Amino acid sequence: MSVKRRKVLEVLDGKCLTPPPIWLMRQAGRYLPEYRETRAKAGSFLDLCYTPELAVEVTLQPIRRYAFDAAILFSDILVIPDALHRNVRFEEGHGPKMDPIDADGVARLSAAGVSDHLRPVFETVSRLRRELPAETTLLGFCGAPWTVATYMIAGHGTPDQAPARLFAYRYPKAFDDLLAFLADISADYLVEQIDAGADAVQIFDSWAGVLGEEEFARFAVEPVRRMIASVRARRPAAKVIAFAKGAGLLLKDYRQSTRADAIGLDWSVPLSFAAELQKDGPVQGNLDPMRVVAGGAALDSGIDRILDALGNGPLIFNLGHGITPQADPDHVAALVSRVRGRR
Ligand code: CP3
Repeated sequence: MSVKRRKVLEVLDGKCLTPPPIWLMRQAGRYLPEYRETRAKAGSFLDLCYTPELAVEVTLQPIRRYAFDAAILFSDILVIPDALHRNVRFEEGHGPKMDPIDADGVARLSAAGVSDHLRPVFETVSRLRRELPAETTLLGFCGAPWTVATYMIAGHGTPDQAPARLFAYRYPKAFDDLLAFLADISADYLVEQIDAGADAVQIFDSWAGVLGEEEFARFAVEPVRRMIASVRARRPAAKVIAFAKGAGLLLKDYRQSTRADAIGLDWSVPLSFAAELQKDGPVQGNLDPMRVVAGGAALDSGIDRILDALGNGPLIFNLGHGITPQADPDHVAALVSRVRGRR
């Protein structure tokens, strides 16, 4: 009998698989020549995100090359501010930009039309579920309220999210309202991705690491707890991975408080601590993306250390953050074959 099992889902259910399933954050992207080709055809980056045919194509590219165990919907966390009319644009070499929001702007935010705006994303998800191999897990995603808010407040990326931290101290009421608003529309967005065919979803809190302890509890834990509770109230079987980059020791409480099924680990999380976290449930990560750029012994030893420390528990092999444009596609092939060669 050959039942096609979705291995990433099995690990999210708490199973230990040897070898562990593997996918890579930002597995569709500029390190792949075929991505650069489709991207050039699409015009703008947002056009690529909102054209189901092209978004499906770039999602499938890394699956064809490497047969990863999960495909992640090709989109961006900033389609949410785009749906909120923040004038989001991606300028070549400058990263994302949008109109910075102030306290009055927060009071004027409305959820009207958001779901309609995001319809092409749901169309991409449903097409993907039809086109993907049966054994490939399809992941939907969104940004965590804190990380999305950092871009909405500054209007662009910053090294330490000082503008958003300052806004939170100066305008605590407007800031709480913004996080709660984003949590609610993001939970709706995840439910719609699940209904369109996503098997599980990941919440990216890429900027959690710039928060102090008290702020982490209020701005990273609480909104994500609220989102997961809201998704589960409506879709009780929903599986959620939460990735709070840079959260360090606070990850122990993060899983317990948010009730995420699995937590993502960036490369700074010590493996001994990662093994402790794994006693509470599945973990995902934590290879330094620079090891994939370097290749060779640096790549091999990084992989082996993770498998030695975490390979006997519930593990989804992944990087500690997104793969970078300098990564060599052959190094990715070597990574996949080393993880899969593990017995
Ligand atoms: O393959 C996948 O992982 C799916 C697609 C995906 C993208 N962005 C595509 C993308 C996902 C899951 C994201 C998440 C995302 N986007 C995050 C959270 C994860 C992380 O990396 O921290 C954040 C903070 C963003 C916001 C964002 N989008 C930034 C800061 C940038 C510019 C920086 C850069 O790498 O250029 C983007 C653009 C972006 N999103 C690209 C891709 C493939 C590159 C743009 C291009 O092709 O021109």
